[in-house]
Amino acid sequence: MTKTALITGATTGIGREIAAAFARDGVNLILVARDQAALNERVLEWRDQFGIEIATFACDLAVPGAADELADLVSARGAPIDYLVNNAGVGVYGTFDQTSLRDELAMITLNVVTPTVLCKRFLPQLMQRNGKILNVASIAAFQPGPYMAAYYATKAYLLNFSDALAAELAGSGVTVTTFCPGPTASGFQLRAAMQASRLVKGKTLADAASVGIAGYRAMQRGKRVVVPGWTNQLTTLITKFLPRAAVTRAIYRMSAPA
Ligand SMILES: NC(=O)c1ccc[n+]([C@@H]2O[C@H](COP(=O)([O-])OP(=O)(O)OC[C@H]3O[C@@H](n4cnc5c(N)ncnc54)[C@H](OP(=O)(O)O)[C@@H]3O)[C@@H](O)[C@H]2O)c1
Repeated sequence: MTKTALITGATTGIGREIAAAFARDGVNLILVARDQAALNERVLEWRDQFGIEIATFACDLAVPGAADELADLVSARGAPIDYLVNNAGVGVYGTFDQTSLRDELAMITLNVVTPTVLCKRFLPQLMQRNGKILNVASIAAFQPGPYMAAYYATKAYLLNFSDALAAELAGSGVTVTTFCPGPTASGFQLRAAMQASRLVKGKTLADAASVGIAGYRAMQRGKRVVVPGWTNQLTTLITKFLPRAAVTRAIYRMSAPA
């Protein structure tokens, strides 16, 4: 029977590439983002080419209550999902004394509250169908991140929440994969207003296509925590052995405006 995947942030960047991988495998899609025109473009791109059904929901998942409303709308279709991909996420760049609290609260809702709500709401049907969850965190999840303090903290939450959920669900038939990419070329840097950061300025970033595929494969294999790319793997390994204060100072220097 044809399976169905619900993917947030499916129009651009990493989420678009994950959605494309599902489409190529003949999985029906429920795509979510704010921009309806961009959602329509994905439908035109994939529906006929891959002979799949695609539903779209244009909604702002950074608004409190939006994830619950989305779950209601998706459930009202009467067709259960087999895959849940919590990919939509944004960053906010700048020292905390300068950043906008409004932006940070919206980011916390999108990066933390929304995946938590969607996992809660869809878990019962995923458990009935041996489903899979893919939560897109970041290598930011592994240490504090000066200049993006709240963003790094949202990803630490997602990593720890998802990994704990994976442990609880071991043997249930449901797998939970936490995917932790490093800096990737996408709309993320512009949205986070972090183009000046030494982390990305003048750097060659990973391409979203290879990152998206790595996340998709990790989820299909039921992996727990996956960091794509050997430089990202090395970075996360090193941070485990260095004193936390030294790591935080290094991130402070590496993230400052160039
Ligand atoms: N790029 C990186 O360097 C990097 C590194 C590590 C982890 N990540 C993580 O990867 C995930 C995807 O990021 P990306 O790099 O692919 O970013 P992106 O190119 O900016 O794509 C973000 C996607 O999320 C959607 N989105 C943004 N805000 C939304 C909202 N309020 N409600 C609903 N949908 C929303 C966007 O569509 P609309 O604008 O139409 O809503 C778009 O489809 C994020 O969780 C990010 O934290 C990114």
